[in-house]
Amino acid sequence: MSKVALFLLILIPQFFVQMSRAEAVLDPTLPRILQGKTLSPEETIKYGSYLFKISNCRDCHMEKGGAFLAGGYKIDSPFGTFYGPNITPDKDTGIGRWTDDDFIRALRRGVAPNGRNYYPSFPYSSYSKMSDTDILAIKAYIFSRPAVKKESKKHELKFPFNIREFISAWKQANFRMVGSYSEDNFIKARGPYQAIPTRDWEWNRGAYLVEGPLHCAQCHTPRDQIGNFKWTKWMSGSRLGAGEKAASNITPSQKFGLGKWTAQDWETFLLEATSKNGTEVTGKMEGVIDQGTSRLTPADLRAVIKYLMSLKPVESSETKKGSKKEDTL
Ligand code: HEC
Ligand code: HEC
Repeated sequence: MSKVALFLLILIPQFFVQMSRAEAVLDPTLPRILQGKTLSPEETIKYGSYLFKISNCRDCHMEKGGAFLAGGYKIDSPFGTFYGPNITPDKDTGIGRWTDDDFIRALRRGVAPNGRNYYPSFPYSSYSKMSDTDILAIKAYIFSRPAVKKESKKHELKFPFNIREFISAWKQANFRMVGSYSEDNFIKARGPYQAIPTRDWEWNRGAYLVEGPLHCAQCHTPRDQIGNFKWTKWMSGSRLGAGEKAASNITPSQKFGLGKWTAQDWETFLLEATSKNGTEVTGKMEGVIDQGTSRLTPADLRAVIKYLMSLKPVESSETKKGSKKEDTL
């Protein structure tokens, strides 16, 4: 965090130069301090490291006690067990031979260099919203790290989820290309985030971060039996894999969600992992905070909170707050 903060502080004078530009032309996919700036290769790696952390890439691509990004992390889901693959720059067992286009295609469209579809347990339906600049900054960071030779493990999935063809149908239903983003379609939209003109820059920045790199909805939005998102119940809570705690309703519903949370409550939670009622968060969410939200710059954190507090309240919950999941689907 301190390194990122330092790096961003160095760029603050740049911010004042950019102040003269009209707010309307600011790009929500970039922090204010980076608007209109060309980054050196070293700065790109630093910026990529920031994005890599807040996107939680490490969590699924590294086994406990294993080498950095060498894969093997076990992801239990109602559809079976997935293993995060090796994404180190190793040429044989990792992604060392990938071009920039290969990397963009994987994160934006969930398609491998050989044309095969990836399972949506790799949260590309959120990462799809990231800009080319951000995706390539992450690649630059990953490629600056050591290559590790280690074969990726095969997933162990239940029928019909073990058939990769199943994924094309999932993509059709969950992940759409749209002409232009609007308040009504942007949640489901695929492709680089576009500013929504009815909202201010800070809200757009928050929407980009939450629905893109931070991918909160992947765990907090309920899904049906075949893993399709329930669009009208966005962020209203979801049961995760067996033995995992459920992810609760985080919309501003007074009764079922976090309607009583102030911006200060959100900030304490996203920085310190302490909930409004004083409980320490555990499990997957702890990793999201420790690796991710606690490292957000102050400006990005404010934007994220602004967006989260503006979510449509969903007056239902499919999960009891923090309850253990009893059975699988
Ligand atoms: C929630 C877990 C999870 C997170 C978070 C995650 N991934 Fe993955 N990723 C996976 C899984 C699972 C696969 C394998 C999908 C498949 O086999 O269809 C995968 C596949 C990949 C692949 C393809 C590897 C190959 O050999 O084909 C790349 C590249 C990748 N992830 C990069 C990233 C990056 C970069 C991030 C962060 C921006 C990230 N992942 C975050 C779970 C995750
Ligand atoms: C990998 C899955 C996952 C992701 C991604 C995720 N969460 Fe969570 N979240 C959980 C789980 C599981 C819990 C329940 C933890 C517990 O009960 O201790 C939780 C709990 C929470 C809570 C506590 C609610 C309460 O009632 O106390 C909030 C707030 C929250 N998450 C917000 C977010 C935000 C904002 C994001 C995106 C930055 C996010 N989550 C991303 C899994 C996730």
